[in-house]
Amino acid sequence: MSRLVSPSMLSANFLHLEKDIEMINQSEADWFHLDVMDGMYVPNISFGLPVIQQIKKKAEKPLDVHLMIEKPERYIDDFKNAGADILTVHLEASTHLHRTIQAIKAAGMKAGVALNPHTNVSLLDDVLVDLDMVLIMSVNPGFGGQNFIPQAIHKIKKLHNQIESLGARTLIQVDGGVDDKNAAELYHAGADCLVAGSYVFKSADPMAAISKLKKA
Ligand code: DX5
Ligand code: ZN
Repeated sequence: MSRLVSPSMLSANFLHLEKDIEMINQSEADWFHLDVMDGMYVPNISFGLPVIQQIKKKAEKPLDVHLMIEKPERYIDDFKNAGADILTVHLEASTHLHRTIQAIKAAGMKAGVALNPHTNVSLLDDVLVDLDMVLIMSVNPGFGGQNFIPQAIHKIKKLHNQIESLGARTLIQVDGGVDDKNAAELYHAGADCLVAGSYVFKSADPMAAISKLKKA
C-alpha cells in the first residue's frame, strides 16, 4: 500500500504555470495530475497536448494524465509523445476497454481506468490484473471544486478487497473533493493515491497542504 499525492493542475494558475510546476517539484507530491476534457464526454473543456508538452519540460515527476474524452484510444500515441507516464481512460468512454488498456501499455505507459460515481467497480473484474491503476471518481467529472461523494469510500473498500483477492498490484486513486478532512479515511479504505486540486491550490500554503495529505 502506497501513499501517493497527485495535485491536479486544473486548479493551478495558468498565468504562472511554471511557478506552480516548480512548487510541485519542490513539494512532497509524487505526480502531476493533468485533467484533459473534450467538451463531449464531460461538459467542460480544459487543456490538451500542447500544454502537456510544455509541462513535461519543467516537471521533475511523472505526468499522471486523466483523459475525460470520448474514444480515448484515438490519442494514445499522442499523449505518450506529449510526455504522459500514466494514462487513465474512462470505462464509460471506451467501448473496447481491454484493447485500449493493452495499447496504453504497448505504448510504454502505465494504464489506468477511471470509474464515474454511478459505475460499479465489479465491471472491472475481468481486466483488473492488467491494470496499473483504477481511478475512483468521488465527484462527477468535469470540474474542480465540487463536493466529495461519500459512496466512493465503499467503492474503494470493495475494489481494495477484490485487488487483494486476485493478488493484483493495481493501485487505487481517488479524485474529486479530496482534502485534509477525508484523506485519512481514504487511505484507510485502501486508496494508494489522492488527487487534489482546489484543496492544494486554494490553500495559503500549497506545499504544506500537500504535506498534510501525505501524512494524513
Ligand atoms: C474533475 C477532475 C479532478 C479535479 C479535482 O473532473 O478529474 O482531477 O481537478 O479537483 P478538486 O480536488 O478541486 O475536486
Ligand atoms: Zn482528474
